[in-house]
Amino acid sequence: MTELLRADDAGIAQAAALVRQGGLVAFGTETVYGLGADATSDAAVARIFAAKGRPRFNPLISHFPDADAAFAQVVETPLARALADAFWPGPLTMVLPRGENCTISDLAAAGLPTVAIRVPRGDVPQRFLREAGVPVAGPSANRSGLISPSNAYHVLRSLEGRIDAVLDSGPCAVGLESTVLDLSRTVPVLLRPGGVTLEELRHVCGRIVHPDDHEDAAPVSPGRLASHYAPDLPLRLEAHEVSPQEGLLAFGRALPGAGLTWNLSESGDLEEAASRLYAGLRFLDGEGRRRGLTGIAAQPIARTGLGLAILDRLRRAAGPRSAG
Ligand code: TXA
Ligand code: MG
Repeated sequence: MTELLRADDAGIAQAAALVRQGGLVAFGTETVYGLGADATSDAAVARIFAAKGRPRFNPLISHFPDADAAFAQVVETPLARALADAFWPGPLTMVLPRGENCTISDLAAAGLPTVAIRVPRGDVPQRFLREAGVPVAGPSANRSGLISPSNAYHVLRSLEGRIDAVLDSGPCAVGLESTVLDLSRTVPVLLRPGGVTLEELRHVCGRIVHPDDHEDAAPVSPGRLASHYAPDLPLRLEAHEVSPQEGLLAFGRALPGAGLTWNLSESGDLEEAASRLYAGLRFLDGEGRRRGLTGIAAQPIARTGLGLAILDRLRRAAGPRSAG
């Protein structure tokens, strides 16, 4: 049975206790809901992969209540500290070499010499993480191959009966996963665009290598080759016209003639668009299939700010299908 826990003192205490006992608790962050487990326990982490039905062991992000707790696990650098000061708590994940006293399990790190750390924003996740008292591994709380959940109901639809509890802190504000930045190399590498934009990072980092630098040699996280966000209906990008047989994922002024339309943001606001992306894909896929539509067409989106993260998710949703 999966318990739905309210985000009050009792609910947070119960969620934290479950994690300490090796259980699985989905928890809301500012980005998406994470499927939390004690990151220091191989057994608890193995339950995450089983519940998600993940065919491969991808490395997981460990979540902490504050920067000091996070940096205790890694080899810290001045740049990492500067980034933490600028963006934590918030939607940035840093990949750094394991520290001497690192307690994160090998399974959570997929055997890599680096670990991914993050301090999410929000009163509820921070209290939950502080009370848990251990690093909390947390991939998105969805079955493998499905869209990331941005509220507790999405989590239950996908994982009910497979996890111990969901700590319901309401809908997620950002609605897209965190930015993943690899700081274990000479020049920082953007592994996944996300809630903190490349422009924002550059203010602190200077040079950053990112996928669009070399289209062919795009650096990817180990877990990023597969499409994670696949709707059942085929998705095509950069649509400049749309047919009545298609659902339209619009941005700005919607193209006329679609069978069904979801506008990410009529005013062309990228933040609004990011927060409405997964809900839009769910809607167009579910309702589109009910109505017998044959595909989804997405209008072009600006390649700046959060647009990079939105396009990254759309490309992956449109890409070859395999689970992640
Ligand atoms: O916003 C988020 O980041 C959400 C919330 C719950 O925090 N979590 C999330 O986790 O999106 P997940 O497992 O879906 O994505 C983790 C990403 C993957 O692309 C993985 O390959 C990368 O982080 N990653 C984790 N550890 C890594 C490492 N040591 N080196 C390189 N990439 C790593
Ligand atoms: Mg995911």
